[in-house]
Amino acid sequence: MIKILKLDHRPLRDKRITTHCALVSRAFSADEFYYSGIEDNVFEKNIISISNQWGGNFNAKYIELPETFVDDFKGIIIHLTMYGEQIVEKIDFIKKDFKNKDLLIIVGGPKVDKFYYQKANYNVSVTNQPHSEVAALAIILNFLNPDALYIDKFKNNKIKLEPTEKGKKVISLK
Ligand SMILES: C[S@@+](CC[C@H](N)C(=O)[O-])C[C@H]1O[C@@H](n2cnc3c(N)ncnc32)[C@H](O)[C@@H]1O
Repeated sequence: MIKILKLDHRPLRDKRITTHCALVSRAFSADEFYYSGIEDNVFEKNIISISNQWGGNFNAKYIELPETFVDDFKGIIIHLTMYGEQIVEKIDFIKKDFKNKDLLIIVGGPKVDKFYYQKANYNVSVTNQPHSEVAALAIILNFLNPDALYIDKFKNNKIKLEPTEKGKKVISLK
């Protein structure tokens, strides 16, 4: 099982970033999404509404005490940070380590407390350049589960897209 924890959500500044982290997690087959910072019912409802339309039952759960959540987690912890070790060099170790265990991927906000660097089994970077939690998350999920790009996995969807060479085709199923 792959769980994502997005730290330090601020509804006014981060609405789209946290939403995009949750949507990337869902689309790339992560199992659960958690966030800390400021509780945001609007964001949570948006994710539920997207799952209702596009299938599955993915949602976002608020964590008031992220350090306790991380302390209590049993499994492998990966913290995504530009300062970490290069993902391309660590991914094979992580995949071996991850077999039959749960995985928690932590993505940060503006400043991440050193607690997370110390708690992580792996502090991992995607390129060692500053960029975005959304991009870093998509890349690591793709490394961990490349099949997610191919499988049509969402059940009970009300709509789906038919891929088209040009233009847009949305099919209504219910
Ligand atoms: C606005 S960035 C802050 C950059 C931060 N100083 C850091 O440690 O990566 C917010 C989050 O995006 C993610 N991030 C940004 N660049 C990254 C990179 N090159 N590799 C992995 N994660 C990255 C990290 O999770 C980071 O906490």
